[in-house]
Amino acid sequence: MAKPLISPSLLAANFANLEKDLEIINKSQADWLHIDIMDGVFVPNISFGFPVLKYVAHLSNKPLDVHLMIVQPEKFINEVKELGAMMMNVHYEACPHIHRVIQQIKDSGMKAGVTLNPGTPVSILNDIIADVDMVLLMSVNPGFGGQKFITHTIDKVKELRELINKSNSKALIEIDGGVNMQTGKELVDAGADVLVAGNAIFRAPDILKTIQEMKDL
Ligand code: DX5
Ligand code: ZN
Repeated sequence: MAKPLISPSLLAANFANLEKDLEIINKSQADWLHIDIMDGVFVPNISFGFPVLKYVAHLSNKPLDVHLMIVQPEKFINEVKELGAMMMNVHYEACPHIHRVIQQIKDSGMKAGVTLNPGTPVSILNDIIADVDMVLLMSVNPGFGGQKFITHTIDKVKELRELINKSNSKALIEIDGGVNMQTGKELVDAGADVLVAGNAIFRAPDILKTIQEMKDL
């Protein structure tokens, strides 16, 4: 089985010393850097915006995996592109015209990811699965780090893997929320390609070793 890609979530980093944490991630075997943008409307929390992320992008040497938890994410395609992001993830629940938004993201030169909340079924992706580069399944209700993993996500990963296989889609499966060594192992076994982890990485005594161990799950 291929090793999972690891995308540490910036939300759990130490914002009083972001440069230090980003240096560690740069040196690590992490594949991407996961960036959570929240607007206090789509989710009940506000994180950070583009003025801060400009510096994060400058300090990071990892491809940026941007997760927008905001209403009308299509308004910010240019800003995300200007950050130099590799992947732009938008919530299915935030986009009545998801097909158009996916095309707009791809036309801008970024990879397009569609994100599902825990209460949104995988089957809703039937008509767009061939068009997306990634599906991000939320394994917690978005808005906060450090929440408990919703175990039903394992069934959703298996269902999504089947859908991808039968649809000639090349979409990656990424999981976000409550991912640690134990839930990470179950997710990889179920067919996940990319693991996002915030607290499990940034609160670990040894960040580099933790990332290495996650890659070897
Ligand atoms: C939650 C965010 C996550 C969060 C994960 O809304 O999308 O990316 O940072 O944090 P952990 O891994 O600590 O659950
Ligand atoms: Zn996220």
